[in-house]
Amino acid sequence: MQFSKDFIRKVAEATELVDLISERGITLKRAGANYKGLCPFHSEKTPSFNVNPERGFFHCFGCSASGDGIKFLMQFDRLSFAEAIEELANRASIPLEIQSGGPRLPNPDEDRGLRCLREAATFYREKLSVPEGENAVNYLHKRLVPESMWVQFQIGMSPDEWQGTLNCLQQKKISLEEMSRTGLIKVSEKSGRHYDTFRGRLMFPIKDIRGRCIGFGARAMKPDDKPKYLNSPETSYYQKSQILYGLYEGLSSIRKLRRMIFVEGYLDVIRLHENGFTEAVAPCGTALTLDHIKIVQRHADTAILLFDGDTAGKNAALRYAHLMLPIALESYILTLPEGEDPDTFLLNHGKEGFDDLLDRKVPTLDYLVQQTLKKFPDSVQGRIQGLEELLPTLQEIQDPKRRQLTLMTIGERMSIPPGLLSKELKRKENKSLHKKQKNDTVTCLSNNTKVSQDEQWLLQSLLRKGKLWPKVREHLKSEEFQTPHFQLLYAKLLELPDEAFQSFDPYTLEESDPELFQSVMLILTEEIPSHDFGLSLKRIKERNLELKYQERLLCSDSDEERAQAGAKRRKEEKELKEVKLIFDNIMAL
Ligand code: UTP
Ligand code: MN
Repeated sequence: MQFSKDFIRKVAEATELVDLISERGITLKRAGANYKGLCPFHSEKTPSFNVNPERGFFHCFGCSASGDGIKFLMQFDRLSFAEAIEELANRASIPLEIQSGGPRLPNPDEDRGLRCLREAATFYREKLSVPEGENAVNYLHKRLVPESMWVQFQIGMSPDEWQGTLNCLQQKKISLEEMSRTGLIKVSEKSGRHYDTFRGRLMFPIKDIRGRCIGFGARAMKPDDKPKYLNSPETSYYQKSQILYGLYEGLSSIRKLRRMIFVEGYLDVIRLHENGFTEAVAPCGTALTLDHIKIVQRHADTAILLFDGDTAGKNAALRYAHLMLPIALESYILTLPEGEDPDTFLLNHGKEGFDDLLDRKVPTLDYLVQQTLKKFPDSVQGRIQGLEELLPTLQEIQDPKRRQLTLMTIGERMSIPPGLLSKELKRKENKSLHKKQKNDTVTCLSNNTKVSQDEQWLLQSLLRKGKLWPKVREHLKSEEFQTPHFQLLYAKLLELPDEAFQSFDPYTLEESDPELFQSVMLILTEEIPSHDFGLSLKRIKERNLELKYQERLLCSDSDEERAQAGAKRRKEEKELKEVKLIFDNIMAL
């Protein structure tokens, strides 16, 4: 640890959390003593992200992200702990106090590597203005990349030598070991000698979200140079799955538009930015992964995925449609005309052409159904095969409402009766029951926030008004909560004896169950508008009733079964009214 505990506390206390978060494009509105807004860490339509300025704490009831200003910067700006403290200290104009004469920088190794990468980028950049770089300059002209883009993306060229980069960096007093750690040089197994990783290539510096160069993409300029693109190896700075090319340059417009356009290549990103589509990003030398998409969810609500018009592009589009469907994000698939990629499309059709193209984007679900239907013969058997292919993706949708709605839409589009569809899904689910549920955060974050608000209110009243407890315990099961976080809390509360509850003192939990204590405190300190406990309970139960009914309806094949489902529902509704009455009476006491 570089900073003393006192210093960290001082910095944390000086942080105006609401300002810090608002400065990053997140709109926060006052709600009592707290502020509320749309969570930057998961996609949502109603705000469940709470900021308590007094305690300097944020918490999201949708995805459970929480912490102080330091944690916020670590997650949102992807800073290390020490970097977050430095940033907050600078903001509050607190001079850095580093313990016992330690080096000034938080992680000396880390920073020497970043310096090495920065020096290399400058070195490559300078090559474009000397005769040696003529090749690269000609190549860029040939590809119609304007000079403004060379500057914006800091494009450069690596010298066509074995130790050009190495010598330059050595002159800057950077050791071979540091160079190796950045992936800029390699060791020959035969001779044991070090040599440059990138030789005679067009260099695209890859930047992290703060604009620091962390690696390179390098394009061959001669057709027979293989591979066409060479990328930095994975290093502690450059993790392919975490990095999107163009994100640093495009972040402000992505946050403004709440939209991202995914393309495949470096030059595609540059061409789109040149034409004003600054929300374009690309994974670097790797396929798009869920990790990349998590980055989008943080900054945007909509993703448009663009694919080349060749067979490989179309196959990729279908694969990605499967990846995107379960994610609570509005996503679209767009395939380009045969033989074009985004770069050539813009060159051939211009900005207006591209705008028209964007208008033709297809929602992921529609794309998935269309393409799946196309793959199989237009027959009953063909449709069953198609369905078989879609079911695993459907199962990945965690939010039950979303899953059912998607299921119904698929049934409609494929002319498959809902009863059959639902049975098929159940059969599949039973088969995969033994498989541990995938705990991927992207898919878990799809809570219906309105619903979780009722659950939150209910828990809060419960914790504040002990007299309700015995009746609630009798009438509400933990499975009836949909938000996993609240379900867990409620289940734990159920384990407490009645007496403990009547005079509930959360501090008794501080030692015995620190996690439960944390959850309880968060709920208790949250400001809530005055509300009706019975009403929240009723809404939760009504929602569950509706879900159960829909499920029964989907599973029934005959009018008779459907009628039965209706009768069951009416019976449950009556029971619900009785429960509501019980609570109304207690509240009136
Ligand atoms: P493409 O082959 O479609 O190239 O690869 P491109 O982006 O259109 O590039 P230009 O226009 O020919 O210059 C798409 C992306 O796949 C990765 C790169 O990230 C590239 O931008 N790739 C491709 C590699 O990593 N290595 C390769 O050898 C080829
Ligand atoms: Mn291309």
